[in-house]
Amino acid sequence: MKIVFVASESVPFSKTGGLADVVGALPKALASLGHEVEVFLPRYRITKPGAVIPGAESLTIPLSGGYKFASIQAAGEANGVRTYLMECPEFFDRDALYMANGKDYPDNAERFAAFSMAALEFIKRSSKPPAVIHCHDWQSALVPVYLRSLYADDPFYEKTSVLFTIHNIGYQGLFPPEIMPLVSINKSLFKVEGLEYYGKINFLKGGIVFSDFVSTVSQKYAEEIQTDEFGHGLEGVLRSRADHLLGILNGVDYEDWNPATDKLIPANYTPEDMKGKEACKRALLEKMGAHSPILDRPVIGIVSRFVKQKGFDLIAQVADELMREELYVVALGTGEPEYEELFVSLAEKYPEKFLVRVAYDNTLAHQIEAGADMFLMPSRYEPCGLNQIYSMKYGTVPVVRATGGLDDTVQPFDGEKGTGFRFRQYSPVALLACLQRAIATFRDKEAWSKLQQNCMQEDFSWTQSARKYANLYQNLYEAKTRGKAPGAIAFY
Ligand code: ADP
Ligand code: GLC
Repeated sequence: MKIVFVASESVPFSKTGGLADVVGALPKALASLGHEVEVFLPRYRITKPGAVIPGAESLTIPLSGGYKFASIQAAGEANGVRTYLMECPEFFDRDALYMANGKDYPDNAERFAAFSMAALEFIKRSSKPPAVIHCHDWQSALVPVYLRSLYADDPFYEKTSVLFTIHNIGYQGLFPPEIMPLVSINKSLFKVEGLEYYGKINFLKGGIVFSDFVSTVSQKYAEEIQTDEFGHGLEGVLRSRADHLLGILNGVDYEDWNPATDKLIPANYTPEDMKGKEACKRALLEKMGAHSPILDRPVIGIVSRFVKQKGFDLIAQVADELMREELYVVALGTGEPEYEELFVSLAEKYPEKFLVRVAYDNTLAHQIEAGADMFLMPSRYEPCGLNQIYSMKYGTVPVVRATGGLDDTVQPFDGEKGTGFRFRQYSPVALLACLQRAIATFRDKEAWSKLQQNCMQEDFSWTQSARKYANLYQNLYEAKTRGKAPGAIAFY
């Protein structure tokens, strides 16, 4: 089948979080199953010039009654996947992907409307329509909206289905209704069954309503987002599409995240020979500024976007008590000023134990995975989460709140079986008790080594999940060619 991914970020071209890891890896896994896969992305300022093959084709985007002009650059073929970049300096040649100084770019609606429209125009240039266009998050959610409105009678797209994957329902693309003409959304769609959401326009809702099928990135999260606690106001819409909603767990790319081959860490190691891990621990503590590192203290690693989702307010509430223990915390992240300041202030208060780097630094992210003993993710909600999965491969034991993908991927250690420590209630007391259990187990060398081995044996490579996606694409394709879209709703 021909599958086209439309997404706002992907490694190695651009990245702010796990979406980029998924869009970088899943197409590869699908291509290795024999599918024809293309990826369509914006070209941002951070996209390295070397990534692009010289020469570009121009593209005219019909938007808001006028035209926008862009060019399409081929970024080559790697592992059987062809990538294309939309170059439109007016919208994408900026310092960051979505926001500056903690504020969303004011023209985000137009930027990603133009991107979504460009995707449909670009795909139409090919002689072969795709079986499925696979869209991700609010930035490409207008693809199905346009497809089922402006392009509804276009014979080229007659047999094309859209799969829409929600990576994070906390980011919906909410805009005032006045922008509708600007982004070519017909006023008739401003209704509860369309894109209307409490008086605003909600791009993510458009993706959910207009796609043939909706998926998210773990089974648990697929259940959670249908509840008031986790649905961010879209639980009702999701419940109404429950028979076209599925959770497929993310895989990880062990070519990038593997302590046996990782070139970004100071020493490699394997489950059979763990000596390199101690060297990684020492080097990490030295790099983070610990004077005469004490290696038999546990190191708790954190690599994260510093945002409310990730549950760091719990750490703030237990920090003083936690710092009475013999341990180190090593944290790397950037994000909202409130959380950056929290980490910086803890580092100032406990300079020998709480070691913080406010930055985006892929090399250090790998070094923390390798050098830490535990990896902490106390998330309020977590659609999948990738770092806990990377950690396991590095023999770094995850300590997580049991929510979403964290619940699906980390099994509690019972002395024999299991891969980590979890707490369910979102409370500082529960977090502290969980960390104390982990620290007590760390002191039992035999148990800890068993636990590390369990973690390193886990296999979350993409093969299985890629097969699930391929089956889903196949079902969608068959439903369409039999003449009835499985996700058809009354008004399209
Ligand atoms: P999310 O997508 O919600 O941010 P995930 O756990 O799915 O969470 O993925 C986060 C990804 O982003 C991981 O690959 C992680 O290593 C990376 N990452 C997050 N913050 C940083 C940072 N400050 N420096 C380097 N990598 C980071
Ligand atoms: C989102 C989620 C994260 C998930 C990632 C990739 O950013 O917050 O949990 O792993 O997308 O699907």
